[in-house]
Amino acid sequence: MFVRVAARAIDASGDEAPEGPPGAPAPWTDRRSPDRPQFVEGWRKAVRRKVAQAQAMTPTSVEASGRIDIWIANPDVLMRAQSSLKLLSEEDWALVTRIQDPARRRAAVASRVILRIALSRAAEHKVAAADWRFALSASGKPVVASGLPPLHFSVSHPDRLVVVAVSADREIGVDVECIDQNISPEVIAGFTHIDEQHSVGGLPRPQEIREFVRLWTLKEAYTKLVGAGLSLDFKTINFTLDPVDLTSVGTNGTKQNGTTQFENFYISNKHMLFHASLAIRHPPDDLGTTEVQIISLTNGRSNHAAAPLTR
Ligand SMILES: CC(C)(COP(=O)(O)OP(=O)(O)OC[C@H]1O[C@@H](n2cnc3c(N)ncnc32)[C@H](O)[C@@H]1OP(=O)(O)O)[C@@H](O)C(=O)NCCC(=O)NCCS
Repeated sequence: MFVRVAARAIDASGDEAPEGPPGAPAPWTDRRSPDRPQFVEGWRKAVRRKVAQAQAMTPTSVEASGRIDIWIANPDVLMRAQSSLKLLSEEDWALVTRIQDPARRRAAVASRVILRIALSRAAEHKVAAADWRFALSASGKPVVASGLPPLHFSVSHPDRLVVVAVSADREIGVDVECIDQNISPEVIAGFTHIDEQHSVGGLPRPQEIREFVRLWTLKEAYTKLVGAGLSLDFKTINFTLDPVDLTSVGTNGTKQNGTTQFENFYISNKHMLFHASLAIRHPPDDLGTTEVQIISLTNGRSNHAAAPLTR
């Protein structure tokens, strides 16, 4: 279940801003330079790992043992805070300047800024935001470079939104897509498993597209978690929805062992609605819950609305 928590402001250095006077409207941005981006904590959810009943009765099953922060930002708002650009490395700039489309380039810049802030906060500021370095795994998954705290992270940046997930103790994958898209039946058929086609095919068109976007983000989130890049054929990944479960993966239909779990969210941003999926891999011997916390950039007036998808 999601709970609303008291909003606390977090500035670009990742520090929490001082508490405002009693009764003052959160996040008390008036105390801060407008040049510095302001983030506030939003929804929090305790994700209980799905386990067999016998395992669930062991004493460790109720302890919170993991944490995932999900940072959400509108790239245009972030880019107004010029100071945040100083956090990027030469390597970051070399990568983003290759992107031709301005909106995509802005989103890529913003994602790198937020990733650095998010990692520093998760590492309790033992590493400054500008000091993170990155490497690529053999399959092309971006990871924190060796010698730095080995945090897990995952990034998604469709044009108008940036979402960054960070965790010290859970492997993760995140993906976000705008729901309002016109997707042809051929594309839907080309990226869905035969069993999924039976469940989404035949729905009224708008609903079929929404369910497809949901399946797509789940597949992308899983792909990012395992670091597979483009090598996984989405037709061979089979999800059931309501409740969400990954039933099988790959051409031989390998069954899942239950350590990977999925969460769905809706995010609204500038009158656009996005679907977000988070893939979480629990350590095999860890039966504790995982706390998922939303942290969003504020423009001083209103925040992004992120809501769990509950069915
Ligand atoms: C790159 C990919 C991981 C996601 O791309 P996307 O959904 O278009 O874009 P998103 O904004 O959601 O995610 C991009 C981020 O994913 C991350 N990423 C890239 N490769 C990754 C990998 N192998 N593993 C994990 N994360 C990866 C990066 O952080 C990247 O950000 P960057 O480009 O600024 O470095 C990849 O799965 C992809 O392009 N999929 C397209 C779907 C497809 O055609 N699949 C094959 C089906 S048959």
